[in-house]
Amino acid sequence: GMDMSINSSSSPSVVGKGDVIMKHQDKPPPSQWNHNQTLSLKIRKHVLKFLDAEKDISVLKGTLKPGDIIHYVFDRDSTMNVSQNLYALLPRTSPLKGKHFRTCAIVGNSGILLNSGCGKEIDAHSFVIRCNLAPVQEYTRDVGTKTDLVTMNPSVIQRAFEDLANDTWREKLLQRLHSLNGSILWIPAFMAKGGKERVEWVNELILKHRINIRTAYPSLRLLHAVRGYWLTNKVYIKRPTTGLLMYTLATRFCNRIYLYGFWPFPRDQDQKPVKYHYYDSLKYGYMSQASPHTMPLEFKALKALHQQGALKLTVGECD
Ligand code: CDP
Repeated sequence: GMDMSINSSSSPSVVGKGDVIMKHQDKPPPSQWNHNQTLSLKIRKHVLKFLDAEKDISVLKGTLKPGDIIHYVFDRDSTMNVSQNLYALLPRTSPLKGKHFRTCAIVGNSGILLNSGCGKEIDAHSFVIRCNLAPVQEYTRDVGTKTDLVTMNPSVIQRAFEDLANDTWREKLLQRLHSLNGSILWIPAFMAKGGKERVEWVNELILKHRINIRTAYPSLRLLHAVRGYWLTNKVYIKRPTTGLLMYTLATRFCNRIYLYGFWPFPRDQDQKPVKYHYYDSLKYGYMSQASPHTMPLEFKALKALHQQGALKLTVGECD
């Protein structure tokens, strides 16, 4: 019950990836889930030893000035200069300063969301976090629309917006950004050198079109801190995924955390195929070959936390 360790060897109730995939005849009865407030608070305290979501969610204006040199977190030999535009978009105070929410939804991008009917439930949470500018308009029944924070890896500009090759793609990105009105756009700008121009394009677009969003650029130490926290809990991840980063941050300011769209497997519990993303045709091979993520390992850890009541993982339909 209260064991902080979420390694499978110390949590016999954990269902391994193989079990999830192979077991298809007898569906488990709808298991009842209870929130474990004590464990949630314990996790919050433990995470705080590694990072402070309020601070690490974004670098602030006071700590940088235009022209400052930053070494990329994953490409340490490469540097970038803090541009005027980036500086202009840095928040003065943390977008999460003093924030507390009764319930938060973290919406991952797995195809498991399709036909889930979870949109209404997701939108009913006090704070909704989404990943990588995933589209919502065409999928509202399953994913909802409420967005309080959305992440954007620079690679999204390439994968979902054709590197803004022409006016049509520019317009598409503009539309998406406008639709966020007021919410937080979280851009990991200091992680990998590959995103340099893409981050600059987006920054420029936001300023030029006076888009009403609050930008945030995670601190240089966030990734290592998150990794450190999980390693201490025997979850040996190489590089935390966006989803795991969001969960780890959310422990600070959310009382109850609900996860949707977390399912890094090509088949569901009934052996039906599941798309890697609910909105595009990206394949699973992409994940295993090109990505340093260890999603199934993360999933196992999250599943264990679900069973202990620290978070609620929804991998089926909503009522
Ligand atoms: O930025 P990243 O490539 O990690 O994420 P994404 O593909 O945009 O999906 C957002 C998050 O949803 C991931 O970081 C995972 O935590 C989760 N996810 C999942 O659990 N299963 C999938 N099939 C796809 C995404």
